[in-house]
Amino acid sequence: MAENSVKILIVYYTLYGHTLQLARAVEEGAKGVPGVETMLRRVEEFDIVKQKAIQGNPAVEQLWQEQQQIPVCSLDDLRAADGAIFGSPTRFGNMAAQLKQLFDTMSGLWLNGEMEGKPGGVFTSTASTHGGQETTLITMMHPLLHLGMIVMGVPYSVEGMIHTEGRGGTPYGPSTTAGGQGELQPTPEDLAIARALGKRVAEVASKLRA
Ligand SMILES: Cc1cc2nc3c(=O)[nH]c(=O)nc-3n(C[C@H](O)[C@H](O)[C@H](O)COP(=O)(O)O)c2cc1C
Repeated sequence: MAENSVKILIVYYTLYGHTLQLARAVEEGAKGVPGVETMLRRVEEFDIVKQKAIQGNPAVEQLWQEQQQIPVCSLDDLRAADGAIFGSPTRFGNMAAQLKQLFDTMSGLWLNGEMEGKPGGVFTSTASTHGGQETTLITMMHPLLHLGMIVMGVPYSVEGMIHTEGRGGTPYGPSTTAGGQGELQPTPEDLAIARALGKRVAEVASKLRA
């Protein structure tokens, strides 16, 4: 990673892959900004989820294996980042505990003000249309605000933001609808809005660095 590059960290949790697809789109958007390098990171999985939801489910197990090459986010990754964007599937209208666990290890960063002034954003996936995308996104912003980050969303000038069909894309952050069995995929618009957030955070991080 080049010393002088602007570094954008994308941290996600996923079980069925939808949030990972959004994470990759966010990364793509950030990467397109000149002088920006990205760090894609996952968070630790719980043993109970490995035992009960991953092992024995071939599709989920394969996704789990594929993700082993993606590093787990460390506190030093957060320190190195000029901007950070966090993604989580919705769990009862809130972020998944696996991502919350990472936030809950950040007290040192918080006490030292190490995330202050860094731009950031959030994205999510729900099973159903009204399963809580906005509540998850807004509550995911709380730790970012406590850490002193500059929280960014997606403005309505981004193409596809004003819509009425059943898909994702909110001013609070990108989102997608996975379906009750995970049978749906992020739409092209969901992915474009995710790219827009990545680009936006990367552009602001670059301007702040300059
Ligand atoms: C414990 C639990 C709670 C969930 N709560 C919600 C919820 O409140 N609303 C919703 O629409 N989906 C809910 N879901 C479904 C997940 O959000 C869905 O599986 C996820 O968005 C898929 O994303 P992923 O492919 O990145 O794992 C829940 C799933 C679990 C396991």
